[in-house]
Amino acid sequence: MSRLAICAAIAALGIAGGAYAASQKLGEPLGQRSPQKVYASTCGYCHGTNVGPIILGRKLPADYIKQMVREGRNAMPAFRPTEVSPEELDALSKWIETAPANPQEKGK
Ligand code: HEC
Repeated sequence: MSRLAICAAIAALGIAGGAYAASQKLGEPLGQRSPQKVYASTCGYCHGTNVGPIILGRKLPADYIKQMVREGRNAMPAFRPTEVSPEELDALSKWIETAPANPQEKGK
């Protein structure tokens, strides 16, 4: 590869990397979504929609939530670390434990 081609490749990587970093929110490390985001995209289409039980505002212990997410139970699917990372699960379970009930959710 010519020196020019290498320079162009490095420049392209720099531009792509910059665009990726810009899509992250300030203070949010790469690859770690906020608990609210994980809940909305991964839990909220069952919990709060009459499919799964309401889990917000019940002070469910974080360790219990973590176990449910990794192992599942009956109709509750298990999630692998590639789907919900260990860091995300830590933050998510603590958030669910302390989050207030959401009056817009349906179910019991
Ligand atoms: C496909 C639907 C579905 C998804 C997605 C889902 N759940 Fe569940 N979840 C259920 C169902 C159904 C149950 C009730 C299981 C049972 O006890 O039979 C449940 C139970 C639970 C419980 C126990 C509640 C209790 O009253 O003891 C917790 C905690 C929980 N889920 C957390 C989560 C979290 C956190 C996520 C997202 C990472 C999630 N769930 C995603 C369907 C779902």
